[in-house]
Amino acid sequence: MKTAIEFKNIKKAYGEKVVMERFNLSIEKGEFVTMIGSSGCGKTTALKMVNGLIQQTLGDIFVDGENIRNKNQTQLRRNIGYVIQGSVLFPHMTVEQNISYVPNLLNKRDKEKTKNAVSKWMGIVGLSEDLKYRYPSELSGGQQQRVGIARALAASPDILLMDEPFGAVDEITRGQLQTELKRIHRQTGITVLFVTHDISEALKLGTKVLVMNDGKIEQFAKPEDLLRCPATEFVKELVKKERRTCRLPEEQLSSCEFSGAASVKNTYNAK
Ligand SMILES: Nc1ncnc2c1ncn2[C@@H]1O[C@H](COP(=O)(O)OP(=O)(O)OP(=O)(O)O)[C@@H](O)[C@H]1O
Ligand SMILES: [Mg+2]
Repeated sequence: MKTAIEFKNIKKAYGEKVVMERFNLSIEKGEFVTMIGSSGCGKTTALKMVNGLIQQTLGDIFVDGENIRNKNQTQLRRNIGYVIQGSVLFPHMTVEQNISYVPNLLNKRDKEKTKNAVSKWMGIVGLSEDLKYRYPSELSGGQQQRVGIARALAASPDILLMDEPFGAVDEITRGQLQTELKRIHRQTGITVLFVTHDISEALKLGTKVLVMNDGKIEQFAKPEDLLRCPATEFVKELVKKERRTCRLPEEQLSSCEFSGAASVKNTYNAK
């Protein structure tokens, strides 16, 4: 497996305040890593260091095996999609113009190709065609969030960074977006780094879950391993409720075959 993103001995300080030190993390290509941890522990900082929006104080970050210090920032960002909570769409552009912004830069001449790409991605994220000519202010929060995702994906990035992208949408829309994102990940093989505050979302979406506390990694493991063998008290506390959904006595939890809360529930109910 090739490495998509690597943090090597990273230290990040804002003035006197050290947010992380000796931070090491390696993310393989095609992995869907969900990141969860206490507020202020450095999740957004870690994410923004990948696309150069924030610079580390010490250490090196490699994207696709290349030290990002040596990379052209525009090129780097073009290959990395970035989706954050709330609308960051260009307000004076229609949905179509927003989504086609980067594809237009990449293939100036082939307008037809761009048009098709916009339709394709609108379909994939579940936006109907008639929304194409609307402006962001004429869309619901969930629709704006979908346009943001379509815009990031239409640039065909190899890496997608998402910082609490579904935090502001309602439960139903969130469920739909999660399902769509999971499908997109499976179909495209893109590497995703996804920050969330919701442990069930982290376990549901991630092929691996990164638990952070106070700038340090508590555990980086598959969802089922996190549930089966929490590495620290912090992780144990975090997954406590999720483990309970399997409705097994505490001493039996370690043997519970976990591939997500729902499937364990089913396994248990089937007994
Ligand atoms: N520009 C800045 N200047 C000074 N301190 C900062 C700056 N940006 C972030 N911090 C501090 O760095 C720490 C990590 O911030 P970061 O935004 O990475 O946290 P987070 O894990 O994303 O938190 P949350 O879950 O609340 O979004 C926090 O203590 C924050 O106050
Ligand atoms: Mg944050």
